[in-house]
Amino acid sequence: MRIAEDKIEEVRSSADIVDVISGYVQLKRHGKNYKGLCPFHQEKTPSFVVSADKQIYHCFGCHAGGNVFRFLMDYKNISFIESVEEIAGSLGIEIEAETGHYDKKQSEHEQLYEINLAAAKYFVNNLVTSTEGKTALNYLKNRKLDQKTITAFGVGYALPGNNFVRFAVENKIDINKAKELGIIDSKDNNDYYDRFRGRIIFPIQSTNGRVIGFGGRIIEKNDNVAKYLNSPESQIYSKRKVLYGLYHSKEEIRKLDQAILVEGYMDIIALYKYGVRNTVASSGTALTDEQVQLLSRFTKNVIVLFDADSAGQKAASRSIETFLKQDFNIKVLTLPQGEDPDSFINNYGKDRFREEVEKAVNFLEYRVSSFRKEGAFDDPDKQVEAIREIVRILSFVNDELKRNMYIKSIAEKFKLREKLLENELLKLLSGKKENNSFRPEQRSPAGNHKGNEKTKLSENVFRLEKELVKLLLEGNEKITGHIFDHVTPGDFRDERFTEIAEKVYEAFMEDVFTPSYIVEKIEEDELKNYILSLSMEQIAISEKRWGDVITDTKMADDMWHYCIDLVKRVELDKIDTLIKENNDKLVSISDENEQKETLRLIFDLMNERKSVLNQNVY
Ligand code: GTP
Ligand code: MN
Repeated sequence: MRIAEDKIEEVRSSADIVDVISGYVQLKRHGKNYKGLCPFHQEKTPSFVVSADKQIYHCFGCHAGGNVFRFLMDYKNISFIESVEEIAGSLGIEIEAETGHYDKKQSEHEQLYEINLAAAKYFVNNLVTSTEGKTALNYLKNRKLDQKTITAFGVGYALPGNNFVRFAVENKIDINKAKELGIIDSKDNNDYYDRFRGRIIFPIQSTNGRVIGFGGRIIEKNDNVAKYLNSPESQIYSKRKVLYGLYHSKEEIRKLDQAILVEGYMDIIALYKYGVRNTVASSGTALTDEQVQLLSRFTKNVIVLFDADSAGQKAASRSIETFLKQDFNIKVLTLPQGEDPDSFINNYGKDRFREEVEKAVNFLEYRVSSFRKEGAFDDPDKQVEAIREIVRILSFVNDELKRNMYIKSIAEKFKLREKLLENELLKLLSGKKENNSFRPEQRSPAGNHKGNEKTKLSENVFRLEKELVKLLLEGNEKITGHIFDHVTPGDFRDERFTEIAEKVYEAFMEDVFTPSYIVEKIEEDELKNYILSLSMEQIAISEKRWGDVITDTKMADDMWHYCIDLVKRVELDKIDTLIKENNDKLVSISDENEQKETLRLIFDLMNERKSVLNQNVY
């Protein structure tokens, strides 16, 4: 079902986010906002902030955030539509099915989800009911999967031949969209064929359980074709941002405060069958920063469990670095040669597997012992190399205290002087860029301007522009209108501020420009997080002028004057920059006419400056 956009807006503006979230999280008043322990990651001190004014929430720890719909979607694992329905229900707002006019992007994504869901169901159907499906089903049974587990993961089968193409035509599924999703493909825009034909299908689900893509495995070994084929990137599937299995495991991960990272689809499914349900896999890529950030919403403790072969061990090492950058506690588990989690648990059972998990060692010990196995400590040259490598890994640890502890422990293990290791580490750290950690919100202002035309931003200009953006995020019509009367998004010299101002401007033109609406429409996580955290920042005047007693009228009044001030300063700054540029130019001009022209321009600018100063909008 689809809900008309104005209905959604009605629900959005009638709901109170503080009421809703209070039903799940204990919130305490904190200045203008409310604070509590974040339900999306483990924490002991509250960094989860809810703004009643702006109707948004944001966690400064794990960057979860959004409006009231997002909260319910993530907390309860439900879809956007379901969250709207739920809130509408509690407010007594009646919702009828869509009658024509709705948001285009939203509906396009919905269509893609629908096609994927239809395909997933179709593949399941193939597996269970078709004659050819029997072979596939037998294969799965041989691999010890039972029907319950197969159903839980929606495992299916794509028939050989072009059956999905036929199915799509019969069911009026948009062929171009199915192609965009990579379910079908074509050589030259006709002659469509099933991309996954003859493969066992593993639907890839988003954290909220929607089918966003597929992995397909061949049944019979064939060296000429890839064992696994994955969906291509699409509007709804970005493999960098998805962890396979997370939808099934997130509750358990939260409960145990620990996740196990494995390599493959089959590992996740087999472990699940035996009741090991805190597993995720990166499937199809080396583990990415985004995937680690996603996992950090549920836990910061991870056990890396990769195959014992050299490819597996290499991948394990790389993922350790990725986890370290985001301050995870990492243990590593190595199974006996030739086993993967799937084969191990099927061969030895659940208890033996649990015993192995208990034996997982700290990542550093793991590295040291793998060097030992390679004989690195029998040869001085190799030993130096090994130490360098270990110190290199340590350089990813952000926490200085932890780093020092690690140094102590390797010093003991290697019987080395601590100082030696420290020096080695310092060399590395100073050679690295300022900060190797994955902290998207910490981009420096100077790093964001657009090439030459936006020259290096002074801290002052940055602060000024930031305040203006914060005002734009107040969602106040008079203020937003005044700003856009005088400043265009392109006037901001910081590229990201321009981007945010553009979003607000678009929303302003549509007449709904509250932060809670704006963040809902932004797909890019980094930008969304930045907007959320800016929205939660106090306007710089607040503490100074408002003190303890805040009345709404006084606040609105102060804010309005502050806005006028800021806009003036931005305008003046723009004029001053132009005056300075033209003054500089004047020195190098020899042509008399051009000189006159420039002088006149400077003169005009000075007049403009005067009129801005005298402007009276109060
Ligand atoms: P089984 O062989 O069925 O037990 O699967 P597995 O999950 O154990 O596979 P394997 O250990 O060979 O690979 C681990 C993961 O890497 C798989 O689950 C896939 O996500 C991915 N992978 C393996 N082979 C391929 C391939 O040929 N192409 C692509 N794109 N990914 C692959
Ligand atoms: Mn396997």
